Amino acid sequence: MPSLNIGSPFEGENGRIFSRRDFDTISKLIYRESGNVLPLGKATLVYSRLARRLRDRNVETFSEYISLIQQDHLERRKAVALLTTNHTYFYREDHHFDHFRDHLRDDLIRRAKSGEMIRFWSAGCSSGEEVYSLAFTLLGPERSTGLQLAQGKFAFLASDLTDSVLETGRAAIYPKVGLAPVPAPLRNNWTKDAGDTLQIADPVRKLVRFRRLNLLGDWPFNKTFHVIFCRNVMIYFDEPTKEELVERLAACLEPGGYLYIGHSERLPGASGRHFEMVGKTIYRKRDA
Ligand SMILES: C[S@@+](CC[C@H](N)C(=O)[O-])C[C@H]1O[C@@H](n2cnc3c(N)ncnc32)[C@H](O)[C@@H]1O
Repeated sequence: MPSLNIGSPFEGENGRIFSRRDFDTISKLIYRESGNVLPLGKATLVYSRLARRLRDRNVETFSEYISLIQQDHLERRKAVALLTTNHTYFYREDHHFDHFRDHLRDDLIRRAKSGEMIRFWSAGCSSGEEVYSLAFTLLGPERSTGLQLAQGKFAFLASDLTDSVLETGRAAIYPKVGLAPVPAPLRNNWTKDAGDTLQIADPVRKLVRFRRLNLLGDWPFNKTFHVIFCRNVMIYFDEPTKEELVERLAACLEPGGYLYIGHSERLPGASGRHFEMVGKTIYRKRDA
């Protein structure tokens, strides 16, 4: 495809016209719906991802497609899904799982054993690799201990905006190669062979609930979490959206609870009143 000169209308394959105005309308819509910022540099990506969708829907022009997504909320959801990034993998940023294992795990297990419900949230979970990595780390390398823990008072919420990735998370079947970064004892204990793929073992799956949730919208829960992973989500947000999100995450964390964010993210300056930094991209909520 020729590179987009988005200052003037661009004619793509089949004579489809993609103009600067089309790009601006789509990028505003994605921002309003999801908080994700699409800079002009992403115009080629927007064009190529949506051109396929136009073909599938038998829509001739981008302006027709824009009218469609303005009216049809399911198609709008589809467009948002196509234009957000779902890249993820097991044990991504493994120092977070090491930190959890070395500094939080024992205390949370002790508290669960004494009757407290311990809650985890993978906010922007994509297809589930993050939440399952965390659950593996909680259950640990000793199978019998892990099986007992799996009966305990632990609950994992995994939420995302995109239906298709949530379905993958619920199905919990992944290519073997995807599980290669998982430490072998955890992989052996908490997955089962399913031919070319591995399935997450039932005791782990039962701990996790996948839910569609827009981080910009209402959060339909009134309980607080002990640990939140919100990694590689804010990176696509602008400063005001980030600030509001971090305020809300702080409000739904337990005092002394932990927030893990992505390696290239940082918390807005004002959030220092809620959090102290305890490791690289790891934050502890200050005691009340
Ligand atoms: C790059 S993935 C990160 C996945 C995982 N947290 C990780 O670090 O590997 C970002 C995820 O955030 C989701 N997302 C983006 N904007 C969102 C929003 N407003 N509400 C909920 N999820 C959102 C996307 O659908 C995508 O699955």
